[in-house]
Amino acid sequence: MTLPIAIAPSILSADWTRLAEQIAEAEAAGVDWISLDVMDGNFVPPITFGAQMASAVRRLTSLPIEAHLMVEHPEDQIGDFIEAGVNCVTIHVETTRHPHRLLQQISEAGVDAGVTLNPGTPLSEIEPVVSICDRIQIMSVNPGWGGQRFIPESLGRIRQARAMLDGCGRERTPVAVDGGVNESTIASIVEAGANWLVAGSAIYNDREPVADAVARLRRALRNG
Ligand code: DX5
Repeated sequence: MTLPIAIAPSILSADWTRLAEQIAEAEAAGVDWISLDVMDGNFVPPITFGAQMASAVRRLTSLPIEAHLMVEHPEDQIGDFIEAGVNCVTIHVETTRHPHRLLQQISEAGVDAGVTLNPGTPLSEIEPVVSICDRIQIMSVNPGWGGQRFIPESLGRIRQARAMLDGCGRERTPVAVDGGVNESTIASIVEAGANWLVAGSAIYNDREPVADAVARLRRALRNG
């Protein structure tokens, strides 16, 4: 089944001194989602922002918003992000002993429930929750920073995640990829089975305007 390709800029690499403008530029460029990289300084070394940023971004755009929780104890954060108005909460399987319960809780709130895992975590860890998630997100870098190189072994993991979803009748559930998505990796990422692409530094950088950066990604997709 060919699923539509969604591009979700991560504001991690945006210019935060003019965030409203940067989000508006992405929206005008035709992106599909806005992705928020929430980091707590524990699960990953950097600290970014909490649910208040999600509330602010909610007021800045009508695009759906994803909160990628790179935090320990996500159970303490999920409610605030849902209240802030995000449309998807993605949790790391490494951060909770109760991924099944947390994903159920997110879904019961009417929000997409995403599960993600670090490059070093076997996909078998998410097997028990594949049938209740609304996206599997493959981390194709070690989380915490933008601008890192795509880990090539991620392509096999993307294929595996696609097969896991198809195997339980969830052919329309996206496989997302986060980390190192750019014009030189995007075609092989989609070819491997991903259709929901987080891109930070490929969209927000000092080389070109956001519109040109998004067009570059779309062109790279078309040219395969
Ligand atoms: C974890 C973050 C980054 C970010 C994407 O580190 O989740 O992966 O969203 O950053 P780029 O697209 O610059 O690799």
